Amino acid sequence: MCGIVGYVGPRVATPVLIEGLKRLEYRGYDSAGVAVMNGNGVETRKAVGKIAALESVVGDDPVEGMTGIAHTRWATHGAPNECNAHPHHDCTGTIAVVHNGIIENYGALRTMLQGHGHTFVSETDTEVLAHLIEAAFDGNLEEAVADSLHLVEGTYGIAVVSSQDPVKIVAARKGSPLLLGLGEGENFLASDVAAILKYTRDVVYLDDGELAVITADSYRVFDLQAVQREKKVSKIDWDLDMIEKGGFAHFMLKEIFEQPTTIENTMRGRLVTEEGFSKLGGINLSREELQNIDNVVITACGTSWHSALIGELLIEDLARIPVEVEYASEFRYRNPIITQRTLCVVISQSGETADTLAAMREAKRRGAKTLGLVNVVGSTIAREDDGGIYLHAGPEIGVASTKAFTSQVVALLLLTLKLARRRDMSAARGREIAQAMEHLPAQIREILDRAGEIEELAEQFKDASNFLYLGRGYNFPVALEGALKLKEISYIHAEGYPAAEMKHGPIALIDANMPVVFIAPHDAVFDKVVSNVQEVKARGGRVIALTSREEPTLKKLADYEFRIPETLDMLYPILAAIPLQLLAYYIAAKRGLNVDQPRNLAKSVTVE
Ligand code: M6R
Repeated sequence: MCGIVGYVGPRVATPVLIEGLKRLEYRGYDSAGVAVMNGNGVETRKAVGKIAALESVVGDDPVEGMTGIAHTRWATHGAPNECNAHPHHDCTGTIAVVHNGIIENYGALRTMLQGHGHTFVSETDTEVLAHLIEAAFDGNLEEAVADSLHLVEGTYGIAVVSSQDPVKIVAARKGSPLLLGLGEGENFLASDVAAILKYTRDVVYLDDGELAVITADSYRVFDLQAVQREKKVSKIDWDLDMIEKGGFAHFMLKEIFEQPTTIENTMRGRLVTEEGFSKLGGINLSREELQNIDNVVITACGTSWHSALIGELLIEDLARIPVEVEYASEFRYRNPIITQRTLCVVISQSGETADTLAAMREAKRRGAKTLGLVNVVGSTIAREDDGGIYLHAGPEIGVASTKAFTSQVVALLLLTLKLARRRDMSAARGREIAQAMEHLPAQIREILDRAGEIEELAEQFKDASNFLYLGRGYNFPVALEGALKLKEISYIHAEGYPAAEMKHGPIALIDANMPVVFIAPHDAVFDKVVSNVQEVKARGGRVIALTSREEPTLKKLADYEFRIPETLDMLYPILAAIPLQLLAYYIAAKRGLNVDQPRNLAKSVTVE
């Protein structure tokens, strides 16, 4: 996720800004930059890669000045290169902007500004802000920023400086966090308190819809109508380590709790609810190509392979196109049937998994069109695919994938809506699905509010040696994912199985020491799953049931029940995944294990 730092005061700004950026490194980023007012104008330095690279650029070509802004970028629009790194400028080079968030209507704004003679140099959505502010500027920076933001749709946390209205920083927030740090004769700005904690513990949090102006010895907060806001000054008493994890004990837990926002980001600007449709600008497939797809092959590894299995069910169910799901590591050495009318969907959080990349190259070599569902912008898969859908889930730091999984399923839903509506699915059916998707963030919040129930469950089961996860239909892949989460971070042996398949072998394992997690929401196969629960209970197994509604038979059979909200059958995997992620997390944490970096595992497997 991108980071913002700002400084105005008596110190030389650049070291303060770079120090602040370093404190934000844990959030993940791919490039960085600073803009400092040197008394004559705005000077900018940028670098791709680590902050150390920016430090070396600044070392070779120093910028001196006492007001400046800085940014770490995690690419969303345009590759991670120097040109796309922030700060961005207007045509005159007197205004510099850093931005976190996504400007949804940047395409329309860019076209409008180009029509008025503005020249763009980057591929970013952010650059429109610099040009909008330039167009609105009439001597007062905060007024120009406020005027510009009236035209903007989307989310932002921004910091702006201008050499035409110097010695101040203007900031604004809508959907992306931003705070002011108050010092003695100096003030700071940051997207995350970690960046400024070395200098001050007094902060003012901006709320959505607020703008702020900071100078060395003053700050002012107001809304888009220029109405002054009274703000409370908060004292930070956390230490740095806690702050980087946002107060959570581990990145994995933080990432689990981010999911209402991350899936919202995956849908943002793409779901056209009224038409039951999705807008996917990057897939690079014409209407004819979409209609002419004969078959879909989805390839991936690990958690991404589990989301692929859900994608298979979605696409076959709704778009009626035959789908095969392939482990990328196997696909590359098979002799698969691929034609020019095959769409090969490649799923990868990192976009760098060696097997997945090789499978994509193989599919391409055989003539398929490739479509990457990738989280890391500018990663190798994202660069080499024919088209893509970025997940926009933000950097995932915990080795166990959580928020990327739910965003992958959402991206697959968006793709399915597109394919299905280009074929026979009615607008009414599409609308029903889109409306249900819109409820997901609030429903996930509901589940997260009851994380304590899962923590108690984890206390009961933390010493188990084996676990079985069972589900059917859309929830069989969730059973696999629940088992993978548990085994990779808690080192407890766990298996996922289709619930009815259990009686063909694994049922032999069942006894009082084998906890069995059933994913049993009230969907089309609920009654069948309840029969499978009965089979487990008849053999003395202990049952944990994830279900969506009070139902007497299941209630009587289950030793523990956890409720998830009701939704459409195809959306249950997203809701059911959350308690399973929490269960794995709390069990591993209670066993005192290194949750974020489990033994033997790497976040990105770049070897075969
Ligand atoms: O970055 P990718 O999605 O391509 O990674 C694939 C797997 O290595 C990954 O999902 C792995 O299974 C995770 N540790 C699961 O939590």
